[in-house]
Amino acid sequence: MGRIIFATGNADKMKEIRMILSDIGMEILSMKEAGISADIVEDGATFEENAMIKAKAIAKLAPEDIILADDSGLEIDYLNKEPGVYSARYLGEDTSYDIKNKNLIDRLEGVPKEQRTARFVCAIAAALPDGSTRQTRGTIEGYIGWEPAGEHGFGYDPIFYVDEYGCSTAQLSPEQKNEISHRGKALRKMREELEKL
Ligand code: IMP
Repeated sequence: MGRIIFATGNADKMKEIRMILSDIGMEILSMKEAGISADIVEDGATFEENAMIKAKAIAKLAPEDIILADDSGLEIDYLNKEPGVYSARYLGEDTSYDIKNKNLIDRLEGVPKEQRTARFVCAIAAALPDGSTRQTRGTIEGYIGWEPAGEHGFGYDPIFYVDEYGCSTAQLSPEQKNEISHRGKALRKMREELEKL
């Protein structure tokens, strides 16, 4: 049975990944569980580039395994797709999301709903033991609300609202979010790619 190593140190993401890939019939390990640590500079200009940089860097350390890596973020149309690939680093890596979320809401002061459109994007890259690679992308469309709401999820979830549910993604259960989320969509596409191997 093959092993999949997911190149993330984020426990929330690992939970989502295990839920979505649970029936793939391969062992799924975090980098920590695989005993790998690496400091990777994500200097790509796109989500796709950053995901591939991570997958290829880890593949060098674990050439026998399937390496998956993701890169994701929030694009706000009115702000020229900021924070985009800088989502984690926006206002500084150590700044709380309470502050980041409030700042983004403030920057949209007076902007009507039709111009508050935004999306979460997730790119997933796979580096395979034969040296080939695969790439998938998932998105979820929504808008930036007028105030944060909800306790689930992480990051920008409290300010990202979806019309389908009429609430923020932080107000959805993990199962509801996985069904419609950028990461859920990209992971399910990647699962299909891996099932073809
Ligand atoms: P990454 O870990 O480099 O992919 O950075 C992703 C960043 O984008 C996170 O730190 C969050 O700020 C944001 N982000 C990505 N996906 C989500 C999500 O599902 N909910 C809320 N924020 C997200």
